[in-house]
Amino acid sequence: MSMADLFEQTATLDARYVMPTYARKPVMFVRGEGMRLYDDTGNTYLDFVAGIGAVNLGHSHPAVSVAVAGQIAKLTHVSNLFYVEHRDELARDLVELFGQPAKVFFANSGAEAVEGAIKLARRWGHARRGRGCFRIVTAERSFHGRTLAALAATGQPSKQEAFQPLPEGFSHVPLNDVAALDAAVTPETCAVMLEPIQGEGGVYPCDTEYLRAVRELCDEREVLLILDEVQTGFYRTGPAFAHQAYGVVPDVMCLAKALANGMPIGAIVGRGDVGDTFQPGEHGSTFGGGPLVCAAGRACVRALADERLGENALAMGAYLRSRLGEVAASTAAVTEVRGSGLMNAVQLAAPNAQQTSAALLAAGLVVNAIGDSILRILPPLVCGMPEIDTLVSALYETFASITPGGA
Ligand SMILES: Cc1ncc(COP(=O)(O)O)c(C=O)c1O
Repeated sequence: MSMADLFEQTATLDARYVMPTYARKPVMFVRGEGMRLYDDTGNTYLDFVAGIGAVNLGHSHPAVSVAVAGQIAKLTHVSNLFYVEHRDELARDLVELFGQPAKVFFANSGAEAVEGAIKLARRWGHARRGRGCFRIVTAERSFHGRTLAALAATGQPSKQEAFQPLPEGFSHVPLNDVAALDAAVTPETCAVMLEPIQGEGGVYPCDTEYLRAVRELCDEREVLLILDEVQTGFYRTGPAFAHQAYGVVPDVMCLAKALANGMPIGAIVGRGDVGDTFQPGEHGSTFGGGPLVCAAGRACVRALADERLGENALAMGAYLRSRLGEVAASTAAVTEVRGSGLMNAVQLAAPNAQQTSAALLAAGLVVNAIGDSILRILPPLVCGMPEIDTLVSALYETFASITPGGA
């Protein structure tokens, strides 16, 4: 079968048998290494999406591959009914990275970690102020996942409309507005949940003063602060977890994505007593905390630290924003560049983000479009200056070709 035929066959089967939840790009990746992806015809791409912020070590990192190959040949799954290797050590590694006494529950995805955190907060609230204490305040434009409660927590009505009614108990406030949060928190509130930097919503950070004020407000009102670090975690913005740069410690943290460099995993971290909220039988998962993903997670967490990728994220993030700033200064197509570490967005003047991302893909650069007018740049943390320079050159060319009067 020719390569063109293989692609056609794959796309045809996909259209016939896979639910159409994604409008896929016309490319089929078959291999990856570091920042590079290879398609079925042998073309090479630079990856500035990293599996939506999940492959922080880069593709096919040998430490993770070896850990997974070794464990899959030994034992894949027995369930949480038994002790297994790696679960306890990965939990300890995460608590050490968190830097606070805490306990961990393992799930399989970000949405599942968020669901678990919602249950934990309700359980905690019931124990404090009775069954009426179950409400959670989150931010407008936030993203917490696609399952029902995580979707209800998400502050994007367009993603919710088709699935009403959603579980009750969620309200949304504008980000970085302390007065709005103050008014929204009532005795029925058990938690406030925020992303330190909103990812899916378009890369909008919490202000430092805001997050500190939120921490104080939660302490005063006896409400849990849940930070959803599913996208910001694992050195994406420099420190192991984004909140560490804010000097704010959450009561609960949700993790997933880069925790096992692309293997499906999620985790809830509960600080101090909060980590003892769930009692046996109150929460669970068939696969969560299995030895295979936990072996991958341990190898990943160790390699991220050994390779000092947080430092690289900070240095390359600063370089990327300065180069993107040059692009913005030279074309009316870009109105803003924002972000932290290697989590960045380019705000476009015109609603042509999809067109721009398609042109970049054709030029061998994988960049995510959010909505109509935002490009999100989320490379593996091994990204270096040459890759950034290649991206910037491609952006100049793309804006010159698709933006009337641009560049
Ligand atoms: C902040 C945040 N929370 C939760 C999720 C949901 O994670 P998953 O897609 O693994 O369910 C995402 C996914 O992008 C996310 O960015």
